[in-house]
Amino acid sequence: MKYTAPRGTKDILPEEVHLWQFVENTCREVFAFYNYKEIRTPIFESTDIFSRSIGVGTDIVNKEMYTFLDRKGRSLTLRPEETAAVVRAGLENNLISPEVITKLYYLGPMFRYERPQAGRQRQFHQAGVEVFGVDDPLVDAEIIEMNLVLFEKIGIKGLEININSVGCKACKPNYSEAIVNYFSDKIKDMCVDCKERLVVNPMRILDCKDAHCQKHIEHAPTSVDHLCGECKIHFDLVQDWLKRLNVKYSINNRLVRGLDYYTRTVFEVVSKQLGAQNAICGGGRYNNLVEEFGGKPTPAIGFAVGLERIIDIVHKLQVIGCKPQAVSLFIATLGHEAQKKGVELASQLRRAGLSVDLDYQGKALKSQMKAADRMKAKYVYIIGDDEIAKGSAMLKNMSNGQQQAIKFEDLSKTLCEKY
Ligand code: HAM
Repeated sequence: MKYTAPRGTKDILPEEVHLWQFVENTCREVFAFYNYKEIRTPIFESTDIFSRSIGVGTDIVNKEMYTFLDRKGRSLTLRPEETAAVVRAGLENNLISPEVITKLYYLGPMFRYERPQAGRQRQFHQAGVEVFGVDDPLVDAEIIEMNLVLFEKIGIKGLEININSVGCKACKPNYSEAIVNYFSDKIKDMCVDCKERLVVNPMRILDCKDAHCQKHIEHAPTSVDHLCGECKIHFDLVQDWLKRLNVKYSINNRLVRGLDYYTRTVFEVVSKQLGAQNAICGGGRYNNLVEEFGGKPTPAIGFAVGLERIIDIVHKLQVIGCKPQAVSLFIATLGHEAQKKGVELASQLRRAGLSVDLDYQGKALKSQMKAADRMKAKYVYIIGDDEIAKGSAMLKNMSNGQQQAIKFEDLSKTLCEKY
């Protein structure tokens, strides 16, 4: 019997983990530049949290949630995204109110039962931010700009930013009605899912990937043509700020996003380096969600980036900035006394902040040197009986082969100076 990872999941192996650490650290660093604080929420939540916010009739809720009953019969769901969970946690812990601005970020695994393909997994990772308590278009523009700063820091160029506005409580229904009117004579010709969407959640028709449906969707009414006065002003101001912040963007009238909670600004960042699954970031404003979750009406906006897709680009572009973990020193020892000395020195050096490895099994010098090579040790310190007697041993620089005699008591100082 050979076990394999569940379909749509991947092991992140030691040889690639440095790419993950680099991207995760850069996310944390950039989010902190903009004064966001980290929040960690549970991997699973009550199913309602997601079904009510993401919306009945969306693909995520209809087809993609990992939902199960616990032993007491409660319906729980592995988080397919984190926005709703952050709203829940923010309200439960009194972090969110209309009077204060709260800026939060998160990193972690999400779960969606999708058809796996390049760039699309069932367990994937996101880093995201959410801002509560401010409706100013400046914030919409700033978080889009923060995305760019993040990608710049990571070393990814050639991205496209698409924005749109889906309107608010007041004007969204007009748009929905326009969609229903437009599709009513075309729907007989469209897929089964779209037929259902027209009744349950008409705007979701615009998400349909079916080539035949796409032909009709192409000419469907646009949301920007149905915005109320306030939403229109908001959208114009977002664009003014984006220009002032030197952010190049395109308006994409088809961008409605696959989650129902959005109001006004929505956006996506896409990369030409990727195949069909080319969105590396998605986000938008969701001014009604806090109230729908029982809080006081509080405007909010956020985005999430897909870490697998970013790492794929980082890998393809061989972004410098991220180097595999390397060991500073390997201590090769010959004989029991030498090993005891080696262990003592390793302990001292690790306490001094150096990464050190050594032989545990009394192997021959040749195989210890091979091991040092494999782990890309920068230096090797070779201790045998003679060296124990002298209180000194050779420190070999593995990149140029140079050797230097260093006393045991000077090793830590010498290496610390080199690093
Ligand atoms: P989303 O567009 O569903 O938005 O996901 C954000 C990003 O997560 C996508 O652009 C993509 O890079 C990545 N992603 C999504 N699904 C998968 C998958 N199956 N495999 C690999 N990567 C994936 C949200 O989740 C919203 N919560 C974003 C947000 C935050 N809106 C407001 N605040």
